[in-house]
Amino acid sequence: MVKQVIMNTNKILFSIRKAKNGDFEAIKTLEHQCFTEDAYDDEVLQQLIKNTRVFHTWVTELLPDKEIVGYVSIYLETKSEGVIVSICTNPKYQKKGIGTALIETTLNFAIKQHLQRLFLTVDVNNHDAISLYKKMGFQMQGIITNYYASGNSAYVMMKKLTRKE
Ligand SMILES: CC(C)(COP(=O)(O)OP(=O)(O)OC[C@H]1O[C@@H](n2cnc3c(N)ncnc32)[C@H](O)[C@@H]1OP(=O)(O)O)[C@@H](O)C(=O)NCCC(=O)NCCS
Repeated sequence: MVKQVIMNTNKILFSIRKAKNGDFEAIKTLEHQCFTEDAYDDEVLQQLIKNTRVFHTWVTELLPDKEIVGYVSIYLETKSEGVIVSICTNPKYQKKGIGTALIETTLNFAIKQHLQRLFLTVDVNNHDAISLYKKMGFQMQGIITNYYASGNSAYVMMKKLTRKE
């Protein structure tokens, strides 16, 4: 289980650990807070936690009270490629470094798994997320029109991964 404790300059202390079955309700709440009409349904969210053959999901716990305030999930599409399928920080705790730490967790994991590329899709109007991904080294690959339920288009972004020996 990956676990890291982070005290950042915003003076919040949190840790990141692999999601477990008991986290379903917390992840569902976060998903609906973050994505409203585009939120994944319960069946998909259960898959993210339970189908550990292809999905790897982590949660952020505030310390010391262990409130779950963020989550990220990646899908192993092939032996060399993965997709970040969801990332979300409780709006109350955004801009405090949690999203950055979640992306770092997925990158470290993906590199250990010998993935070569990590992909994601992001709403073209989601400037906060796009700046986070650019900061973490993702690059624009293309655009998919009418991708979301809202009718909005999505950018496809990708980061090439290199293993540090
Ligand atoms: C995108 C999201 C996960 C970022 O989480 P976060 O915990 O706020 O992330 P961080 O505090 O680590 O911020 C990371 C970077 O994101 C960008 N960012 C986040 N919020 C921003 C804002 N309000 N304005 C501009 N940039 C912002 C910045 O590049 C920031 O880096 P910096 O602090 O060095 O400037 C969060 O905004 C979120 O949950 N949004 C709703 C769900 C969502 O849109 N998910 C992405 C779907 S593709």
